[in-house]
Amino acid sequence: KKEKTLGMIKPDGVEKLGQILDEIYKRGFLLTRLRMCCLDRNQAFRFYEEHRDKPFFNALIDYITSGPIIVFEIVNTNAVDNWREAIGPTDPSRARTVAPTSIRAQYGIDVTRNVVHGSDSAASAVRELEFFFPSSGPMLPNTSK
Ligand code: CMP
Repeated sequence: KKEKTLGMIKPDGVEKLGQILDEIYKRGFLLTRLRMCCLDRNQAFRFYEEHRDKPFFNALIDYITSGPIIVFEIVNTNAVDNWREAIGPTDPSRARTVAPTSIRAQYGIDVTRNVVHGSDSAASAVRELEFFFPSSGPMLPNTSK
């Protein structure tokens, strides 16, 4: 069935933008909305609030606010699972073992700087797409300042 998910190219991925867009193109993903932006710390806290109590939270916030990111809506059959399969496991060194052709295996640096993101469920996809592509205005990052 047709489904939507939120994909993101993180700051270190933006430095390899052409190569990562080529990976997306080669796999035939349809991108239906796209924007480039920088998250401030408040926006990053909100986007990653489920990880607030994790030991890596501060490193994650420092990283994701360190430069521009690119976010996009993917429409595909089983978009959530297919995009997560394309990006591979969270940790690029593990990805190189179990999914060597995945995007994180090829371009990821370490478990924080893992170049791309994908929503982990259909429910997360709805929340994350609304975060970056609000249908009704108020949740748009940047409108609060
Ligand atoms: P992502 O799946 O996009 O969303 C959560 C992020 O937290 C994840 O990518 C990594 O960038 C980061 N992360 C997850 N687990 C760890 C970890 N064990 N150590 C450091 N960073 C992590």
